[in-house]
Amino acid sequence: MKNFQNKAELSTYIGVLKANGSTIGFVPTMGALHQGHLSLVNNGLSENDLVVVSIFVNPTQFDNKEDLVKYPRTLEEDISLLKTVSSDRIIVYSPTVDDIYGNHIESRTFTFDGLEHEMEGAFRKGHFDGVGTIVKRLFEIVNPDRAYFGEKDFQQLQIIRKLVELHQLPVEIIGCPIHRAADGLAMSSRNARLSSEHRIVSPFIYKTLIAAKTQFGTKSAQAVTEWVNKEFKNQPLFELEYFIIADISTLKPVKRKSTKKSYRAFIAVYAGDIRLIDNIALN
Ligand code: PAF
Repeated sequence: MKNFQNKAELSTYIGVLKANGSTIGFVPTMGALHQGHLSLVNNGLSENDLVVVSIFVNPTQFDNKEDLVKYPRTLEEDISLLKTVSSDRIIVYSPTVDDIYGNHIESRTFTFDGLEHEMEGAFRKGHFDGVGTIVKRLFEIVNPDRAYFGEKDFQQLQIIRKLVELHQLPVEIIGCPIHRAADGLAMSSRNARLSSEHRIVSPFIYKTLIAAKTQFGTKSAQAVTEWVNKEFKNQPLFELEYFIIADISTLKPVKRKSTKKSYRAFIAVYAGDIRLIDNIALN
């Protein structure tokens, strides 16, 4: 399996592949790969000749220094896991911070038609500037035909779509369904850091989302939101940061339901010092 650390070498290599007619899928990751990432890679392999997987813990998207320091870094295991999928059709790009940012570890400022102010944007200042900066830079280096993002980070997915639209980037963005553990917990690289006590109760998050979806059929967004808040007050192992029912195109909270619009419920929860997010389509 080819593994590049240098952006110029990777770009040259991909340029030759594309000149010879190969199509390139791209799965950007921060490593600590799990089955959710592999399903993105498999989607990429089914639609492209080759898939580039970037493994880079991007410092500019962390609003919390401790989270950045503690973020799992497992490059060798990640490469072994990718080899179980394919050795000859996957290319890894695992750059250093220097290769990406040089001396300026800073994000650019982006606007995404207001999507950046909601939910994760409100609770994690500067997060989407960091995501926009790294994803745009990676798209320039990899020059993929298609890029694959999981719906677990649904707000991120909508923001990347907006980035591509506003900056007219020549890449198709493909959103892929959330991959869940058998008990319903959405797969995340952070799950590995959950205490066993928190891991055992964590299916509660998805169960609450399913119940919220059922209630949304007959109740207002406000009534469902109040119910979820109460449920979490009775669950001492979790601290609910937000539960929001939002329009999927604006990501603004629903005031009055309309049958013409599509909604999702979004949740962010602290399990000890681990922050988990999840979401569910409501209609
Ligand atoms: O979703 C992630 O893992 C990251 O936000 C991404 C898209 C790889 C950018 O660092």
